[in-house]
Amino acid sequence: MKKEVNVWDYAGEILAGVEKGALLTTKAGDKVNTMTIGWGHLGVEWSRPIFVVYVRQSRHTKAILDQNGEFTVNIPVGPIDKKILGLCGTKSGRDMDKFQALGLTQVEGQTVSVPAIAELPLTLECKVIYQQDQDLSALEPAYRAHSYPAGTAEENNFHTAYYGEITAAYILED
Ligand SMILES: Cc1cc2nc3c(=O)[nH]c(=O)nc-3n(C[C@H](O)[C@H](O)[C@H](O)COP(=O)(O)O)c2cc1C
Repeated sequence: MKKEVNVWDYAGEILAGVEKGALLTTKAGDKVNTMTIGWGHLGVEWSRPIFVVYVRQSRHTKAILDQNGEFTVNIPVGPIDKKILGLCGTKSGRDMDKFQALGLTQVEGQTVSVPAIAELPLTLECKVIYQQDQDLSALEPAYRAHSYPAGTAEENNFHTAYYGEITAAYILED
């Protein structure tokens, strides 16, 4: 069952949840993948409710999002098995099926082709309406050095911001 929610009523839960770790799920063809995110923005632009995710160039998630500009964000409500965010934040969907490995339950999306995940019940369904590669030359040098250290594989592994219009928001219930 899905309990529809107003995103502004749940803004605190959504943002606190993302900061602790949420799942960003994508799908292209019949392949579904999910990864842990710790960065995200909830807000308004173009008079629409928007959730922005930040995805590094190297992520399998990026390749999928560039094929199908739809995604879901799933946020824990209450306790969550730490293994889920750990595995989804360290293993790539290029190498394994994370859903199968963790026994995660897919729930069909309402407005997008991408499923939600029952184990993290607070769900946002989003359609990408804008995307932008972040310009590292515009970033405060100390922050650039921290996240994209010179001389490492991360130096040019910048993030792309995907602005998803929130087309549905709900909590999955038994
Ligand atoms: C707590 C946590 C937060 C993370 N946040 C992000 C994020 O916001 N953006 C990102 O690109 N990667 C983030 N990552 C890294 C990805 O989850 C990780 O590289 C993942 O294995 C990528 O999976 P994929 O290759 O299947 O897309 C985070 C990892 C952890 C553990």
